[in-house]
Amino acid sequence: MARKDRGEQSEDRERILSGAVLPGEQPVEYSLRPKLLREFIGQEKLKENLAISIQAAKERGEVLDHILLYGPPGLGKTTLAAIIANELNVAFQSTSGPVIEDKGDLAAILSNVEKFQVFFIDEIHRLNTQLEEVLYPALEDYHIDYVVGQGPGARTIKLNINPFTLVGATTRAGLLSGPLRSRFGIVHRLDFYTPKELEIIVRRSAEILNIEVEADGASEIARRSRGTPRVVNRLLRRVRDYAQVRADGRITGPVASAALQMLEVDQHGFDEADRKLLLTIIEKFGGGPVGVNTLAASLSEEVDAIEEMYEPFLIQAGFLHRTPRGRVATPLAFEYFGIKPGEAQRGLFT
Ligand SMILES: Nc1ncnc2c1ncn2[C@@H]1O[C@H](COP(=O)(O)OP(=O)(O)O)[C@@H](O)[C@H]1O
Ligand SMILES: [Mg+2]
Repeated sequence: MARKDRGEQSEDRERILSGAVLPGEQPVEYSLRPKLLREFIGQEKLKENLAISIQAAKERGEVLDHILLYGPPGLGKTTLAAIIANELNVAFQSTSGPVIEDKGDLAAILSNVEKFQVFFIDEIHRLNTQLEEVLYPALEDYHIDYVVGQGPGARTIKLNINPFTLVGATTRAGLLSGPLRSRFGIVHRLDFYTPKELEIIVRRSAEILNIEVEADGASEIARRSRGTPRVVNRLLRRVRDYAQVRADGRITGPVASAALQMLEVDQHGFDEADRKLLLTIIEKFGGGPVGVNTLAASLSEEVDAIEEMYEPFLIQAGFLHRTPRGRVATPLAFEYFGIKPGEAQRGLFT
């Protein structure tokens, strides 16, 4: 295989395990989205808490508190936001931090919200400060401050709006400004899913998409999906293609295993990019600690990509630690590559 081809493939591989939506995936994602809380698999604590908040607000006939959902991409934040609106039986309107262009746009949306509706802002950490200021009074006591006129004659008028529930989603809760964060009465973190939960998601999606999956096939896909429903759904579709072309269409254990091996997704749900990251820490930095900036430079990656896409899962899987002095490869990581910790030390931390 030519070198160039290999390069292109490796880009493909990086993306197949990405928690982010890939081009063309939106329609199928939409069709696989649970619409009600009881169809939403896993995140039991969060669901229980949400169900109580929702029922309480409904019984009192009050607006539901503003809700912040945070966690790595692909775990169900957008899905939950829509579910909240469905469960409340109210309208759902959605936008995203980087999409809102100026104060006027946001003020226009806010002045038109329906009573008790859900207004969803994805990537809310990317909302600029000026826009945050429009949002504050709207969140606090449901009004916006309009400036009419210009120059010395300008004056601010207070415009009351309908009470509504803001649902904000972010992959980076730490980047949210303090004041914005404090406006959310309810804050929930989404965790990676267990292999059991992912297996149920495989079966659910397979049923919707009319794919035949055996138990072994489902568990194989679940195990390699980085704890992420979006990845489950993506791998399921890729494995289906393989099963159709190379087998009789049914996803058995061996078929799933062969398909995923071809896609270079390993037993742990790691791909080339994960392995490169771990190996760099081990080989170039004696296992760490190494600062994330140094690591990013060494991998020619963005710090953001490391922090958002790779690290959370590697940390949760127990292969990486985040310490105040930097990133450290754990004994599990050394074992994975068959390297003894002593061999990589290069006398750095002995
Ligand atoms: N708990 C869940 N149960 C079933 N499917 C889920 C669940 N969470 C997410 N999904 C699926 O994963 C996809 C990605 O979820 P999404 O809400 O868009 O994630 P996020 O907004 O956190 O990136 C959805 O299309 C949905 O089909
Ligand atoms: Mg989303």
